[in-house]
Amino acid sequence: MARTALVTGGTRGIGEAISKALKAAGYQVAATYAGNDEKAAAFTEATGIKTYKWNAADYDASKDGIAQVEADLGPIDVVIANAGITRDAPFHKMTPEQWKEVVDTNLTGVFNTVHPVWPGMRERGFGRVVVISSVNGQKGQFAQANYAATKAGDLGFVRSLAQEGAAKGITVNAVCPGYIATEMVMAVPEKVRDAIVGMIPTGRLGEPEEIARCVTFLASDDASFINGSTISANGGQFFS
Ligand code: CAA
Repeated sequence: MARTALVTGGTRGIGEAISKALKAAGYQVAATYAGNDEKAAAFTEATGIKTYKWNAADYDASKDGIAQVEADLGPIDVVIANAGITRDAPFHKMTPEQWKEVVDTNLTGVFNTVHPVWPGMRERGFGRVVVISSVNGQKGQFAQANYAATKAGDLGFVRSLAQEGAAKGITVNAVCPGYIATEMVMAVPEKVRDAIVGMIPTGRLGEPEEIARCVTFLASDDASFINGSTISANGGQFFS
């Protein structure tokens, strides 16, 4: 029987490419989104992938949403914690709200997404968890004290949970995308973006599909001995 995969933030950007790649690899996919109904409807229309609306920053909404996905599609075998936001500002201008929104979505949102599926994975003796972190969680980034802190936190989460899940057949890994051609990166002022691209040895932004292929691999049986790892896909911008 096809495995079931949940992708948070799975209707746009990198998440959209992940949802499509997992479907193409034979998974039953559920994609979540937080707000953009129009885009989600167009995504389902184009892909046939079912979408669910909840805010990853809200634990109860995540728990209830996940229960609904499991009622519709069966137990979740693969969870991709992808939903993420930016609220960039130099630290002296960063507001407590900008800090909190990013922490609630990018870090607590990962807890909210994985915690409800974890007991079932333990019981069934199988699970794949992939967290989408960022090159900026590895190296830090001007105007991203909030975002980089959460993305670095995601790596600590992965490395800890990998140790807990190992004996139960669960792997927990991270992918650290570099600058990928999505709405999030296109929102960076053009001059700043051009300067960043100038620092990428490959000389271009990445494509969402280049990240989706990393995720599909980590979700597969081929990746059974990879646990607590980070795949960096950043065009050579940063090595760790
Ligand atoms: N390094 C050093 N200095 C920098 C800088 C950098 N990377 N970027 C900007 N600055 C400087 C500017 O030159 C300017 O200096 P002066 O005051 O001397 O002119 C100052 O910092 C910025 O001042 P502003 O008043 O213009 O700043 P602002 O409040 O308007 O904020 C910004 C602008 C938010 C910093 C904007 O430049 C920006 O968005 N930068 C990009 C941040 C970034 O890379 N975000 C990544 C988003 S994509 C993503 O997050 C996905 C992923 O995982 C990779």
